[in-house]
Amino acid sequence: MIKIKLCNINDLRIGERRKFKLNDNEILLIRLKDGFYVMENRCPHAGCRLSYYGKIFEDGRIVCTCHGAIFSLKDGRALDGPTQKPLKLYRVKIVEDQVFLET
Ligand code: FES
Repeated sequence: MIKIKLCNINDLRIGERRKFKLNDNEILLIRLKDGFYVMENRCPHAGCRLSYYGKIFEDGRIVCTCHGAIFSLKDGRALDGPTQKPLKLYRVKIVEDQVFLET
C-alpha cells in the first residue's frame, strides 16, 4: 500500500476543497465536518470536473451540476441523476495532523 501526503489538516477549513495530481489523474480532496474525502475529480457521467461543478451537501452528498448526478461521498454510489456509475473514491488516512491518500 502506498501512502501519499496531501496536506496538513489545518490547510483546509470545513467545506473547502483542493485539487491534486495523481499520476495522470486529478483528484479532489474535500473536508467536511466529519472528515476528509478524496475522489476522482471527474464525474463518471460525462467527465465534468467536480472541483468546479461539484456542489457539496453537509450530509455527505455531492451533486455534479453539469447534469444533476448525485453521489454519496461515503461510498461513491450514484444516488440519482443520469448515471448509475459510481464516483471513484480513495482511502484517506489521518496521521497526527497530516492527511494522506492510500492507494
Ligand atoms: S458530467 Fe456530471 S452529471 Fe453529467
